[in-house]
Amino acid sequence: RDPVGTTSAATVTITGAAGQIGYATVFRAAAGALLGSETPVRLRLLEIPEAVRAAEGVAMELLDGAMPLLESVDVFDDPTAAFDGAEVGLLIGARPRSKGMERADLLSANASIFSVQGRAINEAAAPAFRAVVVGNPANTNALIAASHAPDVPAERFTALTRLDHHRAEAQLAIACGVSVNDVDGVAIWGNHSTSQYVDLTRATVRGRPAEEVLLEHGHDRRWIDEFFIPKVAKRGAEIIEVRGGSSVASAAHATLRHIRTWLRGTPEGSWASMAVPSTGIHGVPEGVVCSFPVTCSQGRYTIVEPWAIADFSRARIDRSVAELLAEREAVEALDLLGPRA
Ligand code: NAD
Ligand code: LMR
Repeated sequence: RDPVGTTSAATVTITGAAGQIGYATVFRAAAGALLGSETPVRLRLLEIPEAVRAAEGVAMELLDGAMPLLESVDVFDDPTAAFDGAEVGLLIGARPRSKGMERADLLSANASIFSVQGRAINEAAAPAFRAVVVGNPANTNALIAASHAPDVPAERFTALTRLDHHRAEAQLAIACGVSVNDVDGVAIWGNHSTSQYVDLTRATVRGRPAEEVLLEHGHDRRWIDEFFIPKVAKRGAEIIEVRGGSSVASAAHATLRHIRTWLRGTPEGSWASMAVPSTGIHGVPEGVVCSFPVTCSQGRYTIVEPWAIADFSRARIDRSVAELLAEREAVEALDLLGPRA
């Protein structure tokens, strides 16, 4: 059955289900925001032993919602049991950063989680399995999980940059005084980190080139480079500063949209941003889990091409890819990559 869940119930494993993003995700997933309002879901919640009781509380609340699409909910502390028969994996469980940390600082704290889960997925998940890694550093954690699951196609392991994509759409709409419904064609390239390249070269506002409309609002190319791109790339830190904790509901929303778009498709002529293993396209070395503009149809994504990349874009993409390669070297040095690597 491919794409997942179009005709019958789908099995979804959510890690870190008792955590903040997990809690914000499970109720919407059970209410149809993940797979649509026609598809029943079987939720399998994975937590560490210390948080299993809290996850059981989440499961109790799900039952108390009497949610028509929720076929079952089970709680696990064993990854292999949790991923048994999983068709979709939301890999959220990991430590979040706090004020003053960069996401890469989480590498050693979180990387081992994803080697264990990659092995469990390899052993137990359904053939249709697809995953989005949310736990940071998300791109490299997806690489680690895929490396430990050699029997699952590597392209099924993706990481979340949809939140950055949404942030770019929202900031563009604000700058042009329009609704987010009027903007299209933004793209996030590279790492889910401050090195990401927020690309407006193909973006449109009410069908017109975004850069032209921005200029009418007094925002030139320099403003894009010096204000807009850093605003989006540093938004995670800004949320931590202002809210006092890392983003939660916006991350949950982006996670649900990432999977929904992957399974149900992008609108004609439009794309979304997803971090996916590079095919070697656009000068990004093969296998690196890099954010690209992608189109989706019937459970498959395709990296957008051809896309003439201007010199200033090229340099920014290369800088973010260099950071991803450095993260890969760091996890190789920690011996965290599995048999596929
Ligand atoms: P949180 O601390 O509230 O919750 C994390 C949960 O994961 C906890 O309940 C913890 O017990 C659980 N957990 C830890 N190790 C686990 C394991 N091995 N198996 C299963 N569960 C495990 O954190 P949060 O705010 O929900 O954030 C989760 C992660 O998402 C963080 O790494 C954060 O940085 C990341 N994040 C990513 C994005 C993105 O756009 N990619 C956005 C926001 C947050
Ligand atoms: C975000 O982008 O909000 C998350 O990745 C959390 C963080 O650490 O920035």
